[in-house]
Amino acid sequence: MSSAGVPRHSHRHAPVDLCIVGGAGHVGLPLGLAFAAKGLSVVLYDLNEDVFDRLQQGRMPFVEYGADAILPHVLDRTLFLSSDPGDVTAARIVLIAIGTPVDEYLNPKLRGLLELIETLRPHLRASQTLVIRSTVYPRTCRQVKAALERDGQHWQVAYCPERIAQGHAIKELRELPQLVSALSDEALATATTLFSAIAPRVIPVSVEEAELAKLFSNAWRYIQFAAANQFYMMATEFGVDFNRVRAAMVEGYGRAATLPTAGFAAGPCLLKDTLQLAAFNNNNFTLGHAAMMVNEGLPGFIVEGLRRRYDLAQTRVGILGMAFKADIDDTRDSLSYKLGKILRFHGAQVGYSDEFATDPTFVSKEQLVQSSDVVIVGVPHAAYRTLAIPATVDVVDVWGVVRPGASL
Ligand SMILES: NC(=O)c1ccc[n+]([C@@H]2O[C@H](COP(=O)([O-])OP(=O)(O)OC[C@H]3O[C@@H](n4cnc5c(N)ncnc54)[C@H](O)[C@@H]3O)[C@@H](O)[C@H]2O)c1
Repeated sequence: MSSAGVPRHSHRHAPVDLCIVGGAGHVGLPLGLAFAAKGLSVVLYDLNEDVFDRLQQGRMPFVEYGADAILPHVLDRTLFLSSDPGDVTAARIVLIAIGTPVDEYLNPKLRGLLELIETLRPHLRASQTLVIRSTVYPRTCRQVKAALERDGQHWQVAYCPERIAQGHAIKELRELPQLVSALSDEALATATTLFSAIAPRVIPVSVEEAELAKLFSNAWRYIQFAAANQFYMMATEFGVDFNRVRAAMVEGYGRAATLPTAGFAAGPCLLKDTLQLAAFNNNNFTLGHAAMMVNEGLPGFIVEGLRRRYDLAQTRVGILGMAFKADIDDTRDSLSYKLGKILRFHGAQVGYSDEFATDPTFVSKEQLVQSSDVVIVGVPHAAYRTLAIPATVDVVDVWGVVRPGASL
């Protein structure tokens, strides 16, 4: 907003097919691009005007492969930016894609979405269809509808959870079937037509099935990563290279082929959604909590291994990769930061590098290698596969991506 409280971005309340609330975010923005590229008129509504300033110049605010090519073709033609809530009113369909985090005590922040509905309420009309895209705590969609219907009118509410892998949304939105559910036939028909515009097919389910399908999917991935990470810890303690064990397991043996590589299972979704499910099930989610202990314990395991071999107070440790996963720039809930914190606690001098995320304290990967006694791979950015690391530098590479021993 300007100092006078005037929104910096507005579509001047012109009618559009779709308004995405949270449209500057990692889910809302690529989704808006996908719909706008198919010719729907889309307003991205968000409070983050700095991101919109950047978008208005034709620049993506974060790494999302394929998005830079679409943005200039749709901006100000079928895609519009707005921080003016009046633009929410002017849309036929309002899609909600705001964050749904857990709090500092790992409990779901249930009120966030309901509070958003209260805030938006003066700008919503019962003739609109509300499509919830954020990942929600089970039963939230019915609560949203109940909250809206306190005015005695019938509201159209659908739930169509996002399932993309961040960074690959543009490709996956074209390829993935969309789970579509709603609390009325009319809302189901609207949501089905909407997502049929971008997806190869839609899968109709009940709202409760969709809520669980989304949370189970993320918890399942999180548990799979935990299995690989626990095997990694066992093999390492046993003096065996887990990546060689895994390669032997999966080669020509389909039943083991889904075993992921070991590595930090981080980011804003997997742990958070596992914990939403645990809270939903009265904290009775043994596998989910066990997965959290393993995945969140990996940085500490790495540091303990180093403490047996080094006096960390006399050791320079470099962390290669600060993003939460490979080849993107998002550092939200990255375990590389936790790793750095534990190393610093033990007195190590810690350096940081990333190929995508920017920070004035980061150095280049080459500088990091040159100025470290030990290098730990935090995330397997593709650029690290060809990084030459001299034999004098000790490498901890849970992922098995770098080639230690190569001369610079
Ligand atoms: N990031 C992913 O890969 C991914 C994948 C699948 C599902 N999800 C789910 O999608 C949801 C959004 O995640 P995200 O990663 O895009 O979050 P994000 O933080 O990147 O984006 C959320 C956006 O909402 C905006 N916002 C917050 N409050 C607002 C308000 N009151 N009015 C207008 N805008 C507001 C923020 O400014 C931000 O731009 C979450 O529920 C998440 O669990 C995320």
